[in-house]
Amino acid sequence: GLDVGKVYDKTGAFTYDPGFTSTCSTKSAITYIDGDEGVLLYRGYPVAQLAQHCSFLEVAYLILNGELPNKTALETFDQSIRRHTMINEGLKSFFNGFHYDAHPMAMLTGVVGSLSGFYHDTGNNKDPRHREIFAHRMIAKIPTIAAAAYKKYYGQPFMYPQNHLDYCSNLLHMMFAVPAEPYHVDPIAAKALDVLFILHADHEQNASTSTVRMAGSTGTNPYAAISAGIAALWGPAHGGANEAVLNMLDEIGDVKNVQGFMDKVKDKQSGVRLMGFGHRVYKNFDPRATIIREECHKVLKALKIDDPKLELAMKLEEIALNDDYFKARKLYPNVDFYSGIIYKALGIPVNMFTPMFAVARTVGWVAHWSEMVGDGPLKIARPRQVYTGAAERNVVPVAQR
Ligand code: ACO
Repeated sequence: GLDVGKVYDKTGAFTYDPGFTSTCSTKSAITYIDGDEGVLLYRGYPVAQLAQHCSFLEVAYLILNGELPNKTALETFDQSIRRHTMINEGLKSFFNGFHYDAHPMAMLTGVVGSLSGFYHDTGNNKDPRHREIFAHRMIAKIPTIAAAAYKKYYGQPFMYPQNHLDYCSNLLHMMFAVPAEPYHVDPIAAKALDVLFILHADHEQNASTSTVRMAGSTGTNPYAAISAGIAALWGPAHGGANEAVLNMLDEIGDVKNVQGFMDKVKDKQSGVRLMGFGHRVYKNFDPRATIIREECHKVLKALKIDDPKLELAMKLEEIALNDDYFKARKLYPNVDFYSGIIYKALGIPVNMFTPMFAVARTVGWVAHWSEMVGDGPLKIARPRQVYTGAAERNVVPVAQR
């Protein structure tokens, strides 16, 4: 019977951990992070060594398969990725349906989700060959889709993939080339993108990867699960931070305004945060930020770019690192503090920064989905809650209310 007035309170029966600050949702053999020591390993290898010695596709192979490829394995993998870069012609009409000023991340979320209508993969996930073909397709097609979103935004015709080009050169070509005009990808730009992609390839249970796992845990179509991850990446607290950093630097405008901006950041009432600073896991320098900082100086020098934004960023960094507010809260620059400056130097517009991140992180998403499905049987991700609503009560029919 109804227990009117009963207050349901199961606090204590479950762990209450908003934001999952101390809850592991899974076991995984892919990536290790020690946030206090500033350590990031993919399959046991320090990310700095991978960035120095390997290409993005080599690292993608490692993340997917657990070991670095030998020359033959790398060539086979590379060929497979090149073979799958094309998207179905029918997919173009999805782009056409978007409003002219739709954010490229909106297009990415929608179009990647629509791949589930082209590849009816639900149900085959137990087959490792099936998981492999999904992984290769997704890694191969995401640059084509990201570049098409760029072209749609700028009202230019789509450019088909050029499969003689390496992964990052192909992406730059699809974005910046126009029909009937020669376009040569600058190898410095392609190399810089390759390094950035290595640093962004995986980061264990971040919000977007956890989202892919959560959606995937229901046995949904894997392309739909990746689309869910892209949606989670978009927000400024996650992948959208690189875009937010550049917008913030624009807002500050000049080195002389830095101190005033910092005062605003420290005033909790303002709601303003120093974008590109702080991380849920790193309470020390983000190891990716250290590499990217160096890369940033290298790229600007090599491309002969004198960007006042970099000077502004350096000033912000210097003030923040010496400020008691930031020291007390262990807030250090994260990977996105510098990545935007490099993207800008490569001529990539601000609203494409997060899609770039999505291209790189696709490797991590597919690897985590494959690991979860391969480890099987699938356990649906289903957290509980602490109920804070009304006590049990009787319904009064509408006429008597
Ligand atoms: N600027 C100013 N203060 C900050 C910042 C910041 N960027 N980040 C955290 N703080 C403060 C908080 O106000 C809080 O202060 P309090 O203890 O006085 O209340 C304290 O530091 C702890 O912050 P939380 O929000 O509790 O930390 P959480 O781990 O939940 O958030 C996050 C991490 C979202 C990354 C946060 O640091 C942030 O918003 N940073 C800016 C956005 C950003 O750069 N995101 C990219 C993350 S990296 C990535 O996705 C690749």
